[in-house]
Amino acid sequence: KMKLAVLTGGGDCPGLNGAVKWVTKSAMDSWLSSKRSINFEVIGVTEGWRGLVDVNPEDPKSLEKYIRPLDEETVRTWDRYGGTNLGTSRTNPFNPKNDRSEILLDNIKKLGVDVVVAIGGEDTLGAAYRLHKLGVKTVGIPKTIDNDLMGTDYSLGFDTAVNVIMEEIDRLRTTAGSHSRIFVVETMGRHAGWLALHGGECSGAYIILIPEYPFNLDEVAHLLQERKGREIRYAIIVVAEGAKVAGRDEFIQSGKMDEFGHVALGGIAKYVAEEIEARTSFETRHLTLSHLQRGGTPSAHDRLMARWYGIAAVDMIINEDFGRMASLQRGEITSAPLKECIGKLKLVDIEKNYDKDRYNGRRSIIG
Ligand code: F6P
Repeated sequence: KMKLAVLTGGGDCPGLNGAVKWVTKSAMDSWLSSKRSINFEVIGVTEGWRGLVDVNPEDPKSLEKYIRPLDEETVRTWDRYGGTNLGTSRTNPFNPKNDRSEILLDNIKKLGVDVVVAIGGEDTLGAAYRLHKLGVKTVGIPKTIDNDLMGTDYSLGFDTAVNVIMEEIDRLRTTAGSHSRIFVVETMGRHAGWLALHGGECSGAYIILIPEYPFNLDEVAHLLQERKGREIRYAIIVVAEGAKVAGRDEFIQSGKMDEFGHVALGGIAKYVAEEIEARTSFETRHLTLSHLQRGGTPSAHDRLMARWYGIAAVDMIINEDFGRMASLQRGEITSAPLKECIGKLKLVDIEKNYDKDRYNGRRSIIG
């Protein structure tokens, strides 16, 4: 019997439960595989890596808290629900400030775990890679609403989050239009602008501000003035939480920006809205979508991808492709070495990501 432990780590998002369901189901169905059949036992670890570190395998109470036996019946309806039924944490057992990797290894041994399926973003999968290097069989499944993981075109949660942005902006438009107001909408995305970019593009935002392209407030104000001049009553500006203002030094000195170039003091949407009002005297409101973007039920695309990734992860185990992450590359499900998925992030590159001719020069991004 092969004991498979599955866990979800880092920020939650819709699609995680579906991935756990399909890992469990595919393990139970492994006799369907053309390669070989493995007799799997599946356990779900609660609270991500913290569960595997904090569990006391000798204490039945602790086992009940951190380890959940999973079978087809338990996970049957999971794919319909957002969040993660297993719970999650940002605990990284390899954190140099509090290295708990020895306890982790010891617990894996004591629990009789043969293979770990880690579902997470760069941090969770970084720990999975370290574990693999220490000789534990490990595979990964990508998730992050930021969609900034290397090695895959798609990470679970992104599509649902883009849909939330689109729906909320649809709602804002009626009130923005009625009052002839400017609305600044802040999306998540500390480092990468994918959410703001796709969310803003599909909802027709006039201006999109992303971390990769520092922006100039005078230019934003100028574009808004020009738009009002064309008798357009309102405008939507989408700004990623990590967007940076150009002219860093001046801003750092004024105390309005931190050393990373991020606008401090109450969030970037508020800051941009205030600066627009000061420059244009257009009535401007702001809204931070925050964790709404990680809530709710998974979109059709996230359910589909969760299913494909779950099946792929078990196929990887059957094929003994350890130390790798299920991935989507040019529309095909494949896998990538964990090593290549961590350490740096996949950022927006307008020149590379947008074909100039096809896109007809119509960019709403400024920077
Ligand atoms: O990495 C995913 C993410 O949603 C980021 O976009 C965001 O900056 C962060 O997590 C928020 O983290 P928390 O849930 O800990 O507030």
